Amino acid sequence: MTGSVADSGSIPAAVQQEAWQLKTDLSEHNHRYYVLDDPSIPDVEYDRLMRRLVELEQQYPALCAEDSPTQRVGAPPLDAFTSVVHEIPMLSLDNAFSDDEMINFERRIVERLNYREKLEYVAEPKLDGVAVSLLYLQGVLVRGATRGDGRNGEDITQNVRTIASIPLRLRSNRIPDLLEVRGEIYLPKAGFEKLNQQARAEGKKTFVNPRNAAAGSLRQLDSRITATRPLQMAAYSLGRAESWPTGIVEPSTHFDMLQQLKDWGFLVSDKVARVEGVEGCLEYYRQLSGLRDELDYDIDGIVYKVNDLSLQQRLGFVARAPRWAIARKFPAQEVMTKLLDVEFQVGRTGAITPVARLEPVFVGGVTISNATLHNQDEIERLGLKIGDTVVVRRAGDVIPQVANVVTERRPEDTRDIVFPCTCPVCQSPLEKGEGEAVLRCSGGLICAAQRKEAIKHFVSRKAMDVDGVGDKLIEQLVDQQLLNSVDDLYRLELDQLAGMERMAEKSAQNVLDALQASKTTTLPRFLYALGIREVGEATARALAEHFGSLENIRQASQEQLQEVADVGPVVAHFVEEFFQQPHNLAVIDSLQAAGIHWPDIEPADDHLLPLIGQTWVLTGTLESMSRTEGKEKLQQLGAKVAGSVSAKTYSVVAGPGAGSKLAKAESLKLPVLDEAEFLQLLKQYGLHQDG
Ligand code: IVH
Repeated sequence: MTGSVADSGSIPAAVQQEAWQLKTDLSEHNHRYYVLDDPSIPDVEYDRLMRRLVELEQQYPALCAEDSPTQRVGAPPLDAFTSVVHEIPMLSLDNAFSDDEMINFERRIVERLNYREKLEYVAEPKLDGVAVSLLYLQGVLVRGATRGDGRNGEDITQNVRTIASIPLRLRSNRIPDLLEVRGEIYLPKAGFEKLNQQARAEGKKTFVNPRNAAAGSLRQLDSRITATRPLQMAAYSLGRAESWPTGIVEPSTHFDMLQQLKDWGFLVSDKVARVEGVEGCLEYYRQLSGLRDELDYDIDGIVYKVNDLSLQQRLGFVARAPRWAIARKFPAQEVMTKLLDVEFQVGRTGAITPVARLEPVFVGGVTISNATLHNQDEIERLGLKIGDTVVVRRAGDVIPQVANVVTERRPEDTRDIVFPCTCPVCQSPLEKGEGEAVLRCSGGLICAAQRKEAIKHFVSRKAMDVDGVGDKLIEQLVDQQLLNSVDDLYRLELDQLAGMERMAEKSAQNVLDALQASKTTTLPRFLYALGIREVGEATARALAEHFGSLENIRQASQEQLQEVADVGPVVAHFVEEFFQQPHNLAVIDSLQAAGIHWPDIEPADDHLLPLIGQTWVLTGTLESMSRTEGKEKLQQLGAKVAGSVSAKTYSVVAGPGAGSKLAKAESLKLPVLDEAEFLQLLKQYGLHQDG
């Protein structure tokens, strides 16, 4: 079960045998101790076996393979983490905060599937840690990576190797050649306390909560530090799994898949349960809420997943989250504090947001001194006055909110909150769009605040990703009129930058280098960076993938824009309007003239696509289009189109004249669509119009 002993020519057979036995035994004891929580030997015996193996490996270095239990102590520090691409994106989850939202979740599924039986779900604790992907080739751990933005993560292999509950080699030979296991790395409550105690004893900074501590531990370039942190990992899904061996059945339910992960040596939460229907979900929620404080790890909710994997496939994804799963969050944590003042911030699109300045309070593991008040309507709804005692709520990563005012505690000397009539930054008049609750500065690019925010957005990580251009630098450059719009960034000179506060020549040069590096980008990033209203990352990607080039997006009519999944009339309007403004076009031209460019869009392989992961087969003739066109449309939706039917086929489109492929599909009980049903499907995704 443990690694083969390569280059072992000169090692005596008896030593090879002893080392092999030690590795096997140590892996087994490790699994019993860290995963099953059921050790069968005393610690001193374990230590003795480990010392003996270290000794042998020192004597015969060729014995020491990557999967040896001795390799969990960490490795020499890295200079930086390298980047990893997740071929299957690591998605996030939609949230539900109430029973009603859970009921709606089930209703959406039932309607979409037209499902009449009771749905089965798997309920799992939602661990509050860091999502990771582990890659095993031929059963050996070869790579560990963070989720990052879901598509690009960081390679933290050296760090994950130090985590005792992560198998360095899977506990079976019956495994896919390539296997990607996903899960959460977290710090149990006890480990967190211990870590902080130690930090206090050494006069070091403590961690605010276990999640931050886990993230901080994984961000260490020196894995020997990570090795000292009592991290855990619980597995909850598969990513890629290729070439399943014969003799093992590919699981058809999520629950069986978790069982499989357990058999391979992973820790899977012992609170995982199958539940029936939304009622079962709600019951599980009540039970686990009661147990929350007793668990030895932090959870921030419960994840429910449709158990049947073929139903999951049919449900697919929307933007960044699957339709077949949801995270039911525990109620937000709330505390009382005092509203000291209200300030008005001007956002990138001119929106004026009132921000509450609060007496700092500790809630949900962090100190909060600001909260958004959204808009005037919200302030009126709350009946809020400066000086009031308020309840502040924080749920997960969401921006803290003022939930309500404790009127019984209102002091005599409160002040009303007065909205400004003009922009607090550029003094342009404020305006309110029809049906909008938000006041906006009408100054556009005249307004320094809007310019600053637009530039901050442009350089941000998910946009052009320009390292070293921080908020403070942008503010200074705008104030000194060295930056008026984003294209000015690429005209900055070394001495201008070096003249800024806290900017040595070296950092100024770094900024120029980062700007230079940012010139090679991707169309989705560039589109997102432009800061078109309502065009977030997912929409930018969808637009780029649909139209293929900036030129096509520039020319697209509102109707054409709305052909993109997730683009409705509002987004289409903002996109069209953006590209009609001469000053926007001038900035884009100037950016391209400065050398900003991107490669052609990769062929569609994206989680935005509803049929991703599905293999379709077209057979027979179609009346309304050629088979090639039909194939292209399926591919546009993310499906693979194959020439023959097998058990891996997801669905078959059969026109008149279909023969053996149709017969095979029927014998395999695969769903078969006739042309009308196929057109209906295309229509649903905006790829077909009636008539
Ligand atoms: S499933 C497509 N299961 O929650 C499914 N996620 O908001 C995606 N998480 O990034 C994840 N416990 O870090 C799943 N049992 C669980 C989880 C879990 C914690 C985290 C995970 C993910 C985030 C999604």
